[in-house]
Parts: sequence; structure tokens; C-alpha cells
Amino acid sequence: MAKIIFEEGKKVTVKSPATVANLVCGFDVLGMCLEAPYDIMEVRMLNEQKVIIQSTDGYPLPTDPMLNTAGAPLVEMIAELNAGIGFEVLITKQIKPGSGLGSSAASAAGSVVAANHLLGNIFSKPDLVRFAMTGEKVASGVKHADNVAPCIYGGVTLIRSIFPLDIISIPSPRLYVTVVHPQIEVKTADARQILRKEVLLKDAIKQWGNIAGLVAGFMQNDLELIGRSLEDVIIEPVRSILIPAFDDVKNGSKAAGALGGGISGSGPSIFMLSRDEATAKKIELLMQDIYTNIELPFYTYVTTINQQGVQIIDSNS
Ligand code: HSE
Repeated sequence: MAKIIFEEGKKVTVKSPATVANLVCGFDVLGMCLEAPYDIMEVRMLNEQKVIIQSTDGYPLPTDPMLNTAGAPLVEMIAELNAGIGFEVLITKQIKPGSGLGSSAASAAGSVVAANHLLGNIFSKPDLVRFAMTGEKVASGVKHADNVAPCIYGGVTLIRSIFPLDIISIPSPRLYVTVVHPQIEVKTADARQILRKEVLLKDAIKQWGNIAGLVAGFMQNDLELIGRSLEDVIIEPVRSILIPAFDDVKNGSKAAGALGGGISGSGPSIFMLSRDEATAKKIELLMQDIYTNIELPFYTYVTTINQQGVQIIDSNS
């Protein structure tokens, strides 16, 4: 490993984006990076082997680094470096925790990409995913990479395996993504707890047909194939019960021209893919109408697939 030289005042600011894990049929193995929303994180190098976490905006983030999704990956990174250096992280969160939009992953991925930049990019992307998964373990009790991998690599990623890590970037066509975040909180740990531990073979056959179809659809730019592969017969029937008006949003969006979509990560956000911006905006209006009618506050986003992942926006090193 290269020798790390401490330089006083070295700092970097990154934009760390939201992600949609699972992409409906690919539980724990597929994920997609979004242009919006995103967190802003400023990371500074310290002349001491410790991690300091600060939040700018009143979010009740744990400041004990081992309990913080941005902190735990950095603790692991600096222990591996063992070079007497540490990091201070200032987080401005815009991705709400418990939204299903990869909030914990954005913190974890943003901190490790920023720290790696300050270190002269000595770690590879798979190394960064390995560190960032420690943040996911803090958040949900298990290591999964279907948010942190697309957040670090950008675009659509397939996580063929996490032990050992095997991440494949899947090329994707330009698509529009409409997201609605109804204002209830679903903790990933709880949303995992309610899942059945066994799957019927007939359901597994449908599911792996859809995963293969979705990947082929992305790679061949076949929008119809993408649409008919966005089907989940295993997870969605269980988790959708936690999301008010889920069926209305899904069926209404498809009737309004969406290719398809479903629960974003572990929910409660719902995402829909569209071939053009006009359709994506029509779906946003429909989502707004549905949640206004049932008097449940919400946020909506019309965005696109972010091909870059975590982005350095300011740096003095
Ligand atoms: N694959 C994970 C889950 C993603 O669905 O539990 C959580 O964001």
C-alpha cells in the first residue's frame, strides 16, 4: 500500500446520489443510481486515527462513528491503513433515512469515495463497496451492495455476489424515473424481517426469468422487454402491504404509459420508468393526486439515471 502523507487542511466535497435497489425483480442483486435527490458531504483529513461525524441540518444522525453509516466504513478504512490519519465528515442530508432511496448507502458511499480521493485514490471501486457495505450493516443489520454499488459505480449494477464481491455495470438506455416518497418511514431491517425465508420453485423460475429479461432489456435497449420484466412475485406481494395506495400508483402509472416499476429498495418510495419526460411528468401528477386524495404528505421527483455515481464537486487536493 502507498505511503499516506498527511496534509493539513486537505478537504473534498462530494455529491452522493440516491439509488433504487432491487429494480423490482432483483432483490439484493440489482440497483440503479439516480440524478436526484442527493446528499452533500464534506470530508477533511485528520492528523489522528479517528473519525468525527457532524450533520449540518438537524437530522438526528448518530455521531458515534461506529453507529453512523458514513462513519463505520471510514473506521474500517483507517484501521486497514493504520497510518495515523483519520477523517472528519460533515453531512448535509437531502435523502431521508427510511425512504427506500438508499439514504444510508449515500452516506456510506459518499464518505469512502471522498476519503479515497484525499488518499490519492489508492483503493479500487470494489474496495470502496466493501467498506461501504459496513455502513449498510449498521443501517439494516446485513451487508448488501445493491445501493452502495450503483452509488459508487453509477448507472445500473448487477451484484452477482458479495462474498466474494463481483459487481457488473449494466449499460442502460436513457430513461426517465418518477419517484414518489410517501411520508411514512419503513426501516429496511423491519422490511427484511417480514419476508418469507423460503421461496416456491415456480416463483423462483418466474423471478430469475424476469431478472435475466431485465438485464437483457437494458443491454439491448429493448424498452418493451424492460417493461414486462419489471415484475416481482416474491418480495412485492409481502412488502407492498406496508405502502398505502401502492396498487393505485402502480396500476395507474402503467395505464398512464410507464414501462413499469415498483417498490424502491425496501420502500416506502415507489419508482416508475418511462421512455420520455412528458410521460414521467404525467405519472408524477398522478402520484401527487393519489396521495393528496388520501391526505398522506409526499415528495415526488422526476429524474434520470445517473451514470457517474458519487461526484467530486470541490476539492483542494
Ligand atoms: N435489497 C435491500 C432490501 C435494499 O430490499 O432489503 C434496501 O435498500
